[in-house]
Amino acid sequence: MIIAIDGPAASGKGTIARRLASFYNLPHLDTGLLYRATAQGLLAADLPLHDEEHAVAMARGLALTDFDENLLRGAHMGEAASIVAAIPSVREALVQVQREFAQRKSGAVLDGRDIGTIICPHADVKIFVTASREVRAMRRVLELQSRGEAPDPETVLADIARRDARDAGRTSAPLRQADDARMLDTSDLDIEAAFSAARAFVEAVRHKV
Ligand code: CDP
Repeated sequence: MIIAIDGPAASGKGTIARRLASFYNLPHLDTGLLYRATAQGLLAADLPLHDEEHAVAMARGLALTDFDENLLRGAHMGEAASIVAAIPSVREALVQVQREFAQRKSGAVLDGRDIGTIICPHADVKIFVTASREVRAMRRVLELQSRGEAPDPETVLADIARRDARDAGRTSAPLRQADDARMLDTSDLDIEAAFSAARAFVEAVRHKV
């Protein structure tokens, strides 16, 4: 079973994907980490984020196992990731590794922006997780605080708005809900309620046959 979870920044898709993966005992790939790691590689080498040639080389050289999540999940890396993620050749360089992960015999859970539309158009379950911008900004503030950062709420809200616009407005694999994806609005749901709703979507597909 392949479960594709997409949605905008801080919508809760990562938490839902992790919970589903653990519940169904499936491997999970947070595809945002691929873009974050590509951006981090460029920044660490003092290269501009628009350096296409080096960005593609970085993307091709990524190993799925050694992500330093502590480094990659910082606020500025999300912004940097969305800049490299808008380069079509960088996205192309990352397609194969994501599809191979999805094709594992066990099945898999992948979360990102284009899993249900481009990476796994034939996924068994597709969920598009969303929430109001204000709720997402509040969640991101709490998440960054728990990581020891001291984010300014207004700045976080502006960052999310800018990232939404960049992710949805790019020409290559823009963020959008797949036609056959179920929408899950988590604005008024806590983690347990969001997970239950997602699980109900999966169960509906499992019992359809
Ligand atoms: O956790 P959050 O949603 O803030 O970020 P993320 O999922 O780690 O993604 C960071 C950035 O990578 C996004 O803003 C997208 O621009 C890009 N991304 C993408 O284009 N396609 C994906 N499948 C995953 C992430």
